[in-house]
Amino acid sequence: NHHGLVRAAEKVKLRQGDLFARLSGGPEGIENPYALIEEMRGAGGLHRVTSAWITFDHDLCREILRDNRFGTGMPELVPLSGRARALLQRRPIPPNPVDPPSMLMIDQPEHTRMRKPVAAAFTPRAVARLRDRIAGVTDELLTALPDDGPVDLVTRFASQVPIAIISEMLGFPDSDREMFLQWGDEISPLLDLGISWQAHSRAMKASERIHAYLLDHIERLRAEPGDDILSSLVTAADLTDHELCTSATLLMGAGFETTVNLIGKGIVWLLEHPDQLDRLRAEPELWSNAVEEVLRIDAPVQTTARVALTDLEIAGRRLRPGSTVVLSLAGANRDPAVFPDPARFDITRENAKNHLGFSSGIHVCLGAGLARMEATHALRALTETFPDLRLTDPPTRRPLFTLHGYSHLPAHTGARA
Ligand code: HEM
Repeated sequence: NHHGLVRAAEKVKLRQGDLFARLSGGPEGIENPYALIEEMRGAGGLHRVTSAWITFDHDLCREILRDNRFGTGMPELVPLSGRARALLQRRPIPPNPVDPPSMLMIDQPEHTRMRKPVAAAFTPRAVARLRDRIAGVTDELLTALPDDGPVDLVTRFASQVPIAIISEMLGFPDSDREMFLQWGDEISPLLDLGISWQAHSRAMKASERIHAYLLDHIERLRAEPGDDILSSLVTAADLTDHELCTSATLLMGAGFETTVNLIGKGIVWLLEHPDQLDRLRAEPELWSNAVEEVLRIDAPVQTTARVALTDLEIAGRRLRPGSTVVLSLAGANRDPAVFPDPARFDITRENAKNHLGFSSGIHVCLGAGLARMEATHALRALTETFPDLRLTDPPTRRPLFTLHGYSHLPAHTGARA
């Protein structure tokens, strides 16, 4: 009967809401998101959790990411009804720490204006030119690691490769790298739903410091441009200093807060699956697919979200303007309809690269080529230099849900090859 059905639907909703709270709001969802994701996936395509919708369905995530009836949810820039705007503005956390918002947070047509000049600096040719630098930086880091000794593979290696490369691309002096790592740690929690007010105010302070640093830096580059990407943007692009600042902040954050997680996760998946690592030693041409498989099975960016810009229908649901849809990229990447036996780590998986780890549609990751190159090179060089590398203690997770990864990987290097 009708009432029974309504009550059953309410129960599903409550249960999904509870699971979602556990997934996005604490240590359980950080330690093992996949158990909760699999429980939630059972409820089907698009379903309601407390104040939002959520999906773990690969094709639906992809469809929504490519659907221009959805935006990224900056209320000021979206033509919303008064009610939807009011609802959005009641969200406790400003979705973007910098003003004006970066390309990641804005919709068309503004998005193209912000992305185009940056994309021009990220062509496959420009990225290919970084290949030698990535090799050089990786070699230096590996040379500095102890022979047959203890090492933290995150602090000494995984986090250092991306910060070195992005710092060079943006023309920052080497001496500022540790400061950036610190700032990165402080602003990363902004992407999490369950952020505390304390963490939030720390993040806002860090973002003000970054903004001030970058305004100074941009002024310097304008007077004395180098041959880095930021100098070319400063001199060529039609962007205001504040917009340049926003793009540089995004590149800096996106450039190292994500790739560190990919490299860290790659180390753990490979060391825990020695058969797969042996296969790579025998067939190094499999390395690039192995990196896609890490991105698939353990997404470094676990979720993103979109907001309905109009009244719309999707997946049999009616969404009102302002409705938020949480897209679980990590869940999409383990959708059994697309990836058979999804929890199995298989570096030869044929469609591994169909993962949504870099998102899809107009906001698809601009640094994907760079991230792939850094991770492939770093993982290969590390495991070839130290063939007996092993983890010695359980890894420590970063206390973050969206930018998911490890803060410490205690290991023993073993003898050098
Ligand atoms: C956007 C993931 C590395 C620059 C994105 C998005 C994802 C992502 C999921 C889109 C979010 C959305 O659709 O809402 C990753 C992962 C990385 C990585 C998993 C490493 C493993 C990088 C690097 C850079 C970069 C190295 C640059 C140096 C960007 C930029 C955007 C972006 C600029 C915004 C694009 C836009 O809004 O048009 N990334 N990223 N990313 N990423 Fe990455």
